[in-house]
Amino acid sequence: MNNHVTANAAPLPFIDVGAQRARLGTRIDEAVTRVLNHCRFVNGPEVIELEKQLAEFAGAKHAISCSSGTDALAMLLMAWGVGPGDAVFCPSFTFCATAEVVPWVGATPVFVDVLADTFNMDPASLEAAIAVAVRQGLKPRVVIPVDLFGQPADLDAILAIAKAHELKVLCDTAQGFGATWNGKRTGSFGDATATSFFPAKPLGCFGDGGAIFTDDDELVSVLKSVREHGQGVDKYENVRIGMTGRLDTIQAAILLEKLSIFEDEVAARDRAAKRYNEALADVCIVPVVDPRATSVWAQYTIRLPHGVRDGLAATLQKEGVPTAVYYRIPMHKQPAYAQYPAAGNGLPVSEALSGEVISLPMHAYLDEASQDRIIAAVRRALGK
Ligand SMILES: Cc1ncc(COP(=O)(O)O)c(C=O)c1O
Repeated sequence: MNNHVTANAAPLPFIDVGAQRARLGTRIDEAVTRVLNHCRFVNGPEVIELEKQLAEFAGAKHAISCSSGTDALAMLLMAWGVGPGDAVFCPSFTFCATAEVVPWVGATPVFVDVLADTFNMDPASLEAAIAVAVRQGLKPRVVIPVDLFGQPADLDAILAIAKAHELKVLCDTAQGFGATWNGKRTGSFGDATATSFFPAKPLGCFGDGGAIFTDDDELVSVLKSVREHGQGVDKYENVRIGMTGRLDTIQAAILLEKLSIFEDEVAARDRAAKRYNEALADVCIVPVVDPRATSVWAQYTIRLPHGVRDGLAATLQKEGVPTAVYYRIPMHKQPAYAQYPAAGNGLPVSEALSGEVISLPMHAYLDEASQDRIIAAVRRALGK
């Protein structure tokens, strides 16, 4: 392969929000203009319509839109009254928000290891973490399985453990919205699900946003109160401590347009992931999807022998191929979180993965020529 050809080529994007905007043409501009004209910037009609369409899409009875994925997680812990003395089980190999909300309510995050193949919560480690929490005098209350990089966690095993230990299941599908487990979409499992519409997510808005999914009518009325400063029947009566947790109408209008092409985008991501897998399986460990799952490929993440990753990233950067590392430090090793309990064996898989994974460009508009350029650069950098 001729090195200087790719070295001189324009840098590729890691995700391509602009290509999606071009595909939608003026639809988003028109949707935003409609909101600018009706002026119902908070709790406008687009918010109600989006909640209806999101619930239908996910196969949940209710969708409650909110200000971010982090707030979605926090609002659920607040609504359930989780607090001091309670243990909330989180994978260590995740984005910090999963665990961050737990100390917000005064509860204790307890870190759980992940599986080496899917990078998702290890059910055996969850059992070990529950035993650690009980030994420390904590009350096991909630487990937060994360659908890391777009693939649902092993919900069969986690739901069974949660049932046996009377834990609430709060699914964190910030990265996995649109993925399926046993043929059903995320958002339809556990007691409730939180998701994020951060711009880089597979379904992203043009700012911050999130949503909660649940079939529980009573929980919905508490969440709606939490979202509006803990309001009661009267707007200026406060029956609980709440927050400003709403999704702006403009973001809802944008999301409605994007939701209309989301299924097609997920299919394009899946095609790109399959092409990567076929082209790279002999040079690195490519991602594995559980046969019960489909992924939305929030990230396409490969695994390399320890010590190889950073050199690969530097070489690819020179060739205009961006990469990212999710996550360089597992949560139980983060300075702000190292004080909290963990499953008890040092969480060896989370520690190994944090030194070995690297994510390649992935989005619905990755054309074959660009992808071939990435594949060739990776193979060349790895000496293949
Ligand atoms: C696994 C996970 N949980 C929670 C969040 C928080 O979402 P947000 O950035 O919308 O607050 C994110 C995304 O950033 C995430 O990746």
